[in-house]
Amino acid sequence: MSGSGSQLDTVRVNGKTQVIVLMAWPSTHVRTPAFFNRLCAENGINAVMVPWAVRPENLQGAWDGLRYVENLAGVVLTIPHKTNAASLCDTLEEDAAILNVVNTVRRNEDGTYTGRMYDGRGFVEGMLNHDIVLEGKRVLLIGAGGAAAAIGLSLARQGVKELTIANRSTEKSRKLSQLVGQAMPQVSTKPGSSDPRGHDVVINATSLGLKPDDALPCDVSLLERGTVVADVVMQPPVTAFLSAAKEHGARIHTGEKMVTTQLQLFVDFLLDGGRRGQ
Ligand SMILES: NC(=O)c1ccc[n+]([C@@H]2O[C@H](COP(=O)([O-])OP(=O)(O)OC[C@H]3O[C@@H](n4cnc5c(N)ncnc54)[C@H](OP(=O)(O)O)[C@@H]3O)[C@@H](O)[C@H]2O)c1
Repeated sequence: MSGSGSQLDTVRVNGKTQVIVLMAWPSTHVRTPAFFNRLCAENGINAVMVPWAVRPENLQGAWDGLRYVENLAGVVLTIPHKTNAASLCDTLEEDAAILNVVNTVRRNEDGTYTGRMYDGRGFVEGMLNHDIVLEGKRVLLIGAGGAAAAIGLSLARQGVKELTIANRSTEKSRKLSQLVGQAMPQVSTKPGSSDPRGHDVVINATSLGLKPDDALPCDVSLLERGTVVADVVMQPPVTAFLSAAKEHGARIHTGEKMVTTQLQLFVDFLLDGGRRGQ
């Protein structure tokens, strides 16, 4: 193999290397291992993340086998495994305990699994790291799936003033706004339409935008100048929604930042800040 200058050249593996498995189906589109392995290589952290393509019906089999792998630091989960993996964890913490969804699971020394959900925290911290103020803002969250639920909770925790949740299946947006309202009663949370008028921040937390012929999540011609428009979809890096919003004078925030912000959370939780594997 040549591979000179490739990403793999920067990953050093030895007998103490901690392994993190990223489970997805399909897995061909995943980019998190490349980002994570670069971070580890740059910071001398002895860990590697590898993608595992696991069909939904085989999740339990793959999961049970991993319990016996002593140098497994943990498992990172993406579509379609986040909900089913939560039911396979021994303990759920933080947002995962409220939502019953996980994206980061630590394998403890005794082979038990502790699950957390970092999508919300990753998204919100990504915005704050880019000087986007959320406190006191009126936010429109489009979507009510796993990512949207975690983002909704984190936005409420961050002190937004109003949170409107719009979703194709309106029953789900009603339930999510009830759940966020119960967890954070000080924030005015309601289900609503995807009309972006009257909002300071508009977030696409649906999977719309992954496919080239997808509709836009809302009518961008109604966007008010200066609105912050964010997307969770990270492929393409600038989605059709973000480019149209930019043309209408919005400040845009890409989906990639949600995952890059989570890399340090993975290191802290799964690798004890990098000490595991030293
Ligand atoms: N950047 C990151 O780090 C990151 C992290 C996590 C997730 N994501 C991305 O976030 C997106 C959502 O993930 P998820 O885990 O929340 O998935 P999910 O639980 O399956 O939820 C999908 C959401 O998209 C909506 N949706 C799907 N197709 C639609 C359509 N044709 N028209 C209108 N709404 C539609 C669904 O509405 P219904 O409820 O009506 O079906 C639901 O609100 C995915 O694209 C994923 O790649 C990105």
